[in-house]
Amino acid sequence: MCGIVGYIGKGQAKPILLQGLKHLEYRGYDSAGIAVWGKNGLQILKTHGRVEDLSQQASTWEGEGNLGIGHTRWATHGKPSKKNAHPHISADGQVILTHNGILENYLQVKQTLQLEGWSFSSDTDTEVIANWLAKLFQLHNQDPIATLTDFLGQAQGSFALAILFRNFPNRLFALRKESPLVVGIGEGENFLASDLPPLLLHTRRVYYMENGEIACLQADKVAFYSDKGELLSKKAEEISWQTEKMDKGKYPHFMLKEIHEQPEAVARTLRYLREGGMDCAKHWLKNVEQLTIIGCGSSYHVGIALQYAIERLCQLPVRVELASEFRYREIPMQGLVVAISQSGETADTLAALRKAKKGGCATLAIVNVVGSAIAREADCALYTQAGMEIAVATTKAYLTQLITGYYLAVQLAVERGSIDVFQARCLLADLLDLPEKIKEILRQKEAIHRLAKRWKDMQYCFFIGRGMDYAVSMEGSLKLKEISYIPAEAYAAGELKHGAISLIEPGTLVCCVCTQEGVFDKMRSNMQEVQSRGGELLTISIPGGVACDICLPKTEEMFMASLSVIPLQLFAYFVSVERGEDVDKPLNLAKSVTVE
Ligand code: F6R
Repeated sequence: MCGIVGYIGKGQAKPILLQGLKHLEYRGYDSAGIAVWGKNGLQILKTHGRVEDLSQQASTWEGEGNLGIGHTRWATHGKPSKKNAHPHISADGQVILTHNGILENYLQVKQTLQLEGWSFSSDTDTEVIANWLAKLFQLHNQDPIATLTDFLGQAQGSFALAILFRNFPNRLFALRKESPLVVGIGEGENFLASDLPPLLLHTRRVYYMENGEIACLQADKVAFYSDKGELLSKKAEEISWQTEKMDKGKYPHFMLKEIHEQPEAVARTLRYLREGGMDCAKHWLKNVEQLTIIGCGSSYHVGIALQYAIERLCQLPVRVELASEFRYREIPMQGLVVAISQSGETADTLAALRKAKKGGCATLAIVNVVGSAIAREADCALYTQAGMEIAVATTKAYLTQLITGYYLAVQLAVERGSIDVFQARCLLADLLDLPEKIKEILRQKEAIHRLAKRWKDMQYCFFIGRGMDYAVSMEGSLKLKEISYIPAEAYAAGELKHGAISLIEPGTLVCCVCTQEGVFDKMRSNMQEVQSRGGELLTISIPGGVACDICLPKTEEMFMASLSVIPLQLFAYFVSVERGEDVDKPLNLAKSVTVE
């Protein structure tokens, strides 16, 4: 979602901000802008379009100086347009800011400000914040910290802000309430960003801002304040892990690159887990009586697949909840809660995790982004080793979440005594064989591409499966619809006849995932039912299963989801390419969903 960058120091702000925004593009956005402060005063440049357009316009733009803020906007209040793009400036010209998040009480505040004579030129809640801060700035005799603490005390919602006050030309202020912000420390220059990639171009020393914190950046120092305005002493963190280059290499899209990185990502994740990555979880696996998994989107789908594996392996009932529902449910809370998130910043998952903690549950997080809010707030974080995922549609993060969950399931089963150490070793051997099997499936890429060419113009389709295969069907249908815009629905195969079968007509595609031996016969009957109505099948199965279009290598049945998802990722990818869509940046979607 929205991305914020900021710079103050010895260098020219413009190229640093533009490069920073380029490195936040993957979060998803519809417009972009920068404000630079220098010898030509304060200059603002915005575009309803890509950072590339902004950079092009900036090449002949007069914005020069050593202080600035930038933004990629993902529209919440007000449609995507140049007028609504950030940065926004207060009506009195005192406050210039960019914003990620939502000010929930914006309407009421806007009405009050309008009555007081403050004018507005956009439809955004951000401009409400700019005017509100300008009013508070006057009230607090132009004291920025008093202004920001007062604002924090009254503002509702979740947000991160990068702020310039016109009367403080050598300072960049930042404020965090829920939405992420990181400060990067340089030599005679300091940086601000929503996420690490823009910062890592310049420094590996960072401060993660906590909730309710305010930062004041100058070229040679940074000070942090609490929401009460007290000066804080914070410890900088050194980013020690290797970061990948954000380029596509030999691939036309990040998504295809990331699909191909999966064998290595799985091997890396298993290595990490075997070398102690799960040590912090051991304590929490003792005496688990109730297990709940929470997540959103694909991370939720991982939870569903794990439910089948954990229940079978550990003889333990597992509840899987959409984080956005769980956070508002009134339910007794007990046991262990596992939060799954690639970004570690998803607002709903974070809120659900906090609810679980507040309710007295032990919490584990399966997270990809190191140092993210969910990773830091859970009792223990298990890091998937997917590496940075740029494509909005997740592939390697999904798969490494699944692998981490399988590994966790095996450890839990040993802890509970539902399997012995020898069985655990055999299961681990199966996991270790997965990278080679994934490579085998990737070699069927051309066959999958041909299927995609055949089906690219379909109006809608279904994905069906039973048990674990149903969980994978959910992921397959999400992948297809999010990047190709074809309505796709996943059904537990046995449910089809309870309603959706009325939509099957001659030519309707039904993708069948069929890897679970105990239900082969049932699946065959379901496939017959589809064919009897003229529906067409695309089958993904294993030798000895149903007649398959895509045949998967076999592994332990509980782990089949980690293989059957690969052709579905490729199918979605190729359909999107054949339809000429922007695969890596699907419309309206964001990589990191930091608002509700
Ligand atoms: C789909 C996709 C999303 C995310 C969801 C949760 O391809 O990527 O559905 O899975 O937004 O995000 P995280 O895992 O970052 O919490």
